[in-house]
Amino acid sequence: MSERIDQLRAEFERDLAAVEAEAGATALRDRWVGRKSGVLTAEMKRLGGLAPEERRQVGQLLNELKTGIEAAIDRLSGEFAVRREAAQLAAERIDVTLPGRREVAGHLHPITLLRQRIEDIFVSMGYQIEDGPEIETEFYNFDALNIPANHPARSRQDTFYLSERLALRSQTSTVQIHAMQRREPPLRVIAPGRVFRRDTPDATHNPMFYQVEGLLVDRGITLGDLKGTIEEFVRRMFGPQTQIRFRPSYFPFVEPGAEIDYSCFKCGGSGCRVCKGSGWIEMGGSGMVHPNVLRGVGIDPEIFSGFAFGLGLDRLCALMYGLDDIRLLYENDIRFLAQFR
Ligand code: DAH
Repeated sequence: MSERIDQLRAEFERDLAAVEAEAGATALRDRWVGRKSGVLTAEMKRLGGLAPEERRQVGQLLNELKTGIEAAIDRLSGEFAVRREAAQLAAERIDVTLPGRREVAGHLHPITLLRQRIEDIFVSMGYQIEDGPEIETEFYNFDALNIPANHPARSRQDTFYLSERLALRSQTSTVQIHAMQRREPPLRVIAPGRVFRRDTPDATHNPMFYQVEGLLVDRGITLGDLKGTIEEFVRRMFGPQTQIRFRPSYFPFVEPGAEIDYSCFKCGGSGCRVCKGSGWIEMGGSGMVHPNVLRGVGIDPEIFSGFAFGLGLDRLCALMYGLDDIRLLYENDIRFLAQFR
């Protein structure tokens, strides 16, 4: 009988030596000492058929073998577990001496920064921020702004039409009308927004750009109020020494109308590259709200008067930051934008 035991032991040693992975150790345990179909378990069951004396002897040998097998499998499993843990630790190793990686935070676009500065100045003067749609009907785009039926701005060469009646707004002046319809005078609003024109993109043009519109309507408002307001704005924007001048001009929705210039923030008026030697920089259009415009929205021009102005953000942004091409503002090149962090 002890031969049989030796044979089993040798067989187990062979099995043991062939195990290569942790799962193999588990299989080995099932195969040899598993409760259901283990080789030794079956061997033990057969003891019942032996004579009492032999049963005791063989039982003892089998028990010894079983203890040995279990110990060997435990050792093997332990080795695999140690190896697995070591591998995991190596894989998860963190080099605490490496320099940290800094999170890259986003930041505002230069146009947004400029828009917010302008908004802050007017809000501090009691203006409210007004918004209007970018898609407008002919009424808001043209009719309500007193733009005559044959005016070139209405043409399909200048304006992006979406249908017979709908077009992308070509100026934020449309928001004047919304503001006067939504509110009762006295009103003071500032309306920044995108506008669209059928221009070929180049260094100074983009078919989409930004304007800021201003509108004030109250009793007894005069051109003096417009001048004072713009003067206050440019001084807060460019410094207390900034001068302004008005050049008569024509816009259908104001009468009289004027172009506003301010003294160059770079050279102070002596002439430089920024102001192309003239000492002045164009800011935008302005004027006293046309009586037809007031009447169109149900405001009596005999009682109320007002002024309006509109300025372009892109050119101003380009001048202030020394950009030689406004298209830089729309390409979203990170190398450009990161400079405004
Ligand atoms: N909307 C005009 C433009 O885009 C600018 C403008 C001129 C706005 C006179 C005004 C204004 O409010 O009174 O060229």
